[in-house]
Amino acid sequence: MRAFIRASLIATALGTALMVAGCQQPAMEQKPQYAALYDRLGQKPGIVAVVDQFVANIAADNRINGRFAKTDIPNLKAQLVDQVCEAVGGPCKYTGKDMVTSHKGMNITNAEFNATGEAMLNALKKYNVAEADTNTIMTVLGGMQKDIVGK
Ligand code: HEM
Repeated sequence: MRAFIRASLIATALGTALMVAGCQQPAMEQKPQYAALYDRLGQKPGIVAVVDQFVANIAADNRINGRFAKTDIPNLKAQLVDQVCEAVGGPCKYTGKDMVTSHKGMNITNAEFNATGEAMLNALKKYNVAEADTNTIMTVLGGMQKDIVGK
């Protein structure tokens, strides 16, 4: 865990340096707005760790785990990693189904959506993701609620 925190601190410093450098470049060459967040999360390995914990939290939660009984979990994890990675400015491309299509016919409730949000929140807590970054990620996920609930 100490190594992770050290890596996060280095990533934060690096991210800030990149942002400062980015300001002196023409708009087209700037890194995406969230690239520093991708670095702070520990890049791809950090995101894989958070997604693993997110799915483990879902699996341990009786309010929602039944939904995933027939799901190909390694595939789901891979899709989630790409989705989160891309959303935080990382060099990944989500190629899975859009959120309406992948949750169609499930009639997912707001309560189930909130339980899933809790699973992510606790995963981010476990890896000591800063509050502001946690809020950014939860806001991105929250924006998907209308595409996931009640379809
Ligand atoms: C912001 C919240 C959520 C995100 C970001 C999300 C994301 C995803 C993604 C990326 C996939 C894979 C799509 C693909 O294979 O192409 C997926 C599938 C799935 N999601 Fe969600 N999801 C969310 C909320 C939920 C909730 C609340 C439930 C139910 C409690 C749920 C149940 C499922 C199930 C069962 C599948 C697998 C469907 C299958 O086996 O084909 N998801 N989700």
